[in-house]
Amino acid sequence: MRTPQVVALGGSLLRPEELENRKMWLGKLRQLAVHIEGNSRKLGIVVGGGLPAREGIELAKNMISNPDRLDEVGIAATRLNATIIQQIFLDMGCNVAVTIPVSTKEAADLLEQHNIVVMGGTNPGHTTDAVAVSFARDCGASDCIIATNVSHIFNKDPRTNDDAEPFFEMKIAELVDLTGTDRLKPGQSAVVDPIAVGIAQEFDINIAVLDGRDLDLVESALDGKDFVGTIVRS
Ligand code: UTP
Repeated sequence: MRTPQVVALGGSLLRPEELENRKMWLGKLRQLAVHIEGNSRKLGIVVGGGLPAREGIELAKNMISNPDRLDEVGIAATRLNATIIQQIFLDMGCNVAVTIPVSTKEAADLLEQHNIVVMGGTNPGHTTDAVAVSFARDCGASDCIIATNVSHIFNKDPRTNDDAEPFFEMKIAELVDLTGTDRLKPGQSAVVDPIAVGIAQEFDINIAVLDGRDLDLVESALDGKDFVGTIVRS
């Protein structure tokens, strides 16, 4: 049997306000699950919090200043989104774990019994990128795919800089220079969470960043084929 694989699906990929596009995207995700299970492969999926995380944190911020408490609000949103995907897979009869694990160790254990394990966040202090890299470490995967809503890692924020340049391949040390090592604020977004980068560096996990709106790219990366995106080598 092949080594387990792990993919982080950014919560922005599940935008309920774009229902028609999401229906197609979720349909494609179902096909991906069939492809994985049909080939007796194992896949850990870590789902981000997206809109419910941002809205929940915004609301709670008015009353709470403790970042760990705000992070708990974000974690609840990631688990909501994870449950949506897990229930879709269960409904189609996939061999997916019926619990949403609360730690990456538990997730790795569950992946021994199932083809697919879906989870959200775990503890305050990081995002689901860090959960995905930790899951990869704990299940023996050498790579972690981070599917987000940008095509590559850029040298500066492409939303605000027209001259931003994509990286196609980079070393993890270069990514550390770009992201720094500081914890993000609750709900703060970054192309890759610095905590995730630190874990990848410590445990020699390669990271692939790609545009998860196109699930063909995720499938190519999972199949070891060429894909459009950035490869970060440990
Ligand atoms: P996300 O993982 O969704 O953040 O966690 P993100 O990657 O920036 O956003 P998307 O999903 O790609 O749009 C949302 C928030 O939940 C808390 C943090 O506050 C984070 O900003 N969180 C999440 C944790 O504290 N711990 C976790 O393990 C996961």
